[in-house]
Amino acid sequence: MRYSRGAMAFHWLIAALIILNIVGAVATEDMEGPVRGLAMGMHKAAGMTVLVLSVLRLGWRLGHRPPPLPAAIGRMTALAAHGVHALFYLLMFALPISGWLMISAASPRRPFNWFGLFDLPYLPVEGDKALQVVAHDAHELLFYLILALLVLHVAGALRHHFAHGRTFLFRMMPGQRRTGI
Ligand code: HEM
Ligand code: HEM
Repeated sequence: MRYSRGAMAFHWLIAALIILNIVGAVATEDMEGPVRGLAMGMHKAAGMTVLVLSVLRLGWRLGHRPPPLPAAIGRMTALAAHGVHALFYLLMFALPISGWLMISAASPRRPFNWFGLFDLPYLPVEGDKALQVVAHDAHELLFYLILALLVLHVAGALRHHFAHGRTFLFRMMPGQRRTGI
């Protein structure tokens, strides 16, 4: 059994945006001036897109049960996989919200728009220096956490893919291939 098309679309769109945002933010660290401003503008817009898509995805998920994990992977592994999935859902909200809080608490604030098309709203916390520092630290900590989860998630998916007839990944891939187990 495989995930529905909707679940796959949400999964890969959000995964791509998160991975791009991580790579982009790390690459931006050494930039300065207007180039850094442009890159951070895209980082913030992509991050807010993840937040909106995650709200939609959670709504979708509550109405659509995922296919059960194959019994072949074992009870403890299934428990661990569900734990990683639940933490991912938490981080898909917490990471963008911590970034949103960080830039909203700054004073003066920098421009905040969606890829130059329209302005995005700030949270009402302008000038709260202490909150800005906490949100910044949280953003960094959550980044390390999602990175660790991603390593576990991909390693687990690949392990079960190769251990069970190279079909496990197809649960989350569109197409006609058999999912086997
Ligand atoms: C930051 C990036 C990613 C995030 C946040 C993420 C998150 C998730 C979540 C939350 C689920 C469970 C879906 C649900 O039950 O609603 C899931 C399932 C899955 N993901 Fe990812 N994922 C990411 C990247 C990847 C990558 C790079 C791969 C490729 C190896 C992958 C392969 C899978 C597979 C095969 C499943 C289905 C697992 C199952 O059968 O239960 N994911 N992912
Ligand atoms: C998918 C969501 C997001 C991911 C994965 C992400 C990831 C990251 C990463 C990896 C860094 C570099 C951290 C470091 O090395 O210290 C960073 C920095 C930053 N992020 Fe995000 N971010 C996301 C969403 C957001 C959002 C929504 C905003 C604001 C609206 C934001 C604002 C910032 C800012 C301002 C910095 C630079 C902080 C500094 O100057 O040190 N991020 N982000």
